[in-house]
Amino acid sequence: MYLKSARALAALFLCVFALGSQAQNTAPKLPNVVILATGGTIAGTGATSTTTVGYTAATVGVDALIKAVPELQKVAHVSGEQTMQIASENMGDAQWLLLAKRVNTLLARADVDGVVITHGTDTIEETAYFLDLVVKSKKPVVVVGAMRPSTAMSADGPINLYNAVITAGSQEAVGKGVLVVMNDQINAAREVTKTNTTTLDTFKTPELGMLGYVIGGQPHFYRASTRKNTVDTEFDVTNLNALPRVDIAYTYANVDPTAVNAFVAAGAKGIVHAGVGDGSLPIKVRPALSAAHDKGIVIVRSSRVGQGIVARNGEANDDQLDFVVADTLNPQKARILLMLALTKTSNTKEIQRMFYTY
Ligand code: DGL
Repeated sequence: MYLKSARALAALFLCVFALGSQAQNTAPKLPNVVILATGGTIAGTGATSTTTVGYTAATVGVDALIKAVPELQKVAHVSGEQTMQIASENMGDAQWLLLAKRVNTLLARADVDGVVITHGTDTIEETAYFLDLVVKSKKPVVVVGAMRPSTAMSADGPINLYNAVITAGSQEAVGKGVLVVMNDQINAAREVTKTNTTTLDTFKTPELGMLGYVIGGQPHFYRASTRKNTVDTEFDVTNLNALPRVDIAYTYANVDPTAVNAFVAAGAKGIVHAGVGDGSLPIKVRPALSAAHDKGIVIVRSSRVGQGIVARNGEANDDQLDFVVADTLNPQKARILLMLALTKTSNTKEIQRMFYTY
């Protein structure tokens, strides 16, 4: 009798163990996501919980950012690297190249499924677009920031980081290009821009629209960019240690050629003209831009308006001037594409093709 009950108990134990291990085997495999921290407000601290301006950016380390969101452990295997610790107004070529090379090295590893970059919001749109043009993987790269410092009441950093990690670890985000995830919204690197100096909903893709949402722990995509990015671009930073100098000449009423001439003197290889309206060229500036062109400097006509197409041969005879038009890229993004274009060629017809491709 005793032997029978022992056997029954053993059989029950084995059965429970088998079910347990089977359940473990069927548990969803969590993605491996690496967080590269660069600083910004998401890593910022203020004197009080109501300090949402006048705080210090780039003070909290990546381990503390991860520790502050224990829910991350339920959605991904997360590891962090402190790539730098700066306010993003101080981002520059060296930081972009460092970041891009690290992202490409990580994404080439089979045990990395996606990368999240925490970043100051002031230049998120520039870093995101630069990476969109030089990351050589279809795996998700998500850039995320915050509009309130980590010490603030209702800080947006933790939920933004949570949503960014979910998106970076998702299959849905594969092949979508570099993304900016903030305020529950997913925007494409090419078009997203900061539209408000302080509010949580600052990142938008005016007119062309965001790509989707991150809601209830799940990314939902409704559109995708039509422009080439990441693995489909012709740009490669592997052997680059510097980028060509490209400046932006901002236009306004009564502008004169002082800025253009200064950029030429400083050795600019390209100048983006942030024109008014459809990229209009003021009569006082046009000769300086033509003179710059004749010195081999590539001129791109963009617009300070920020939305819409700058049409070739519209407000200026680009064919005659041998200028390039930025299509829909705002001046700060046109600058990035021109910098990378100049690593390949100074041929304006080739560069115009690039502005119609990326
Ligand atoms: N100094 C700004 C920056 O690092 C703070 C803004 C922010 O990160 O939201 O971009």
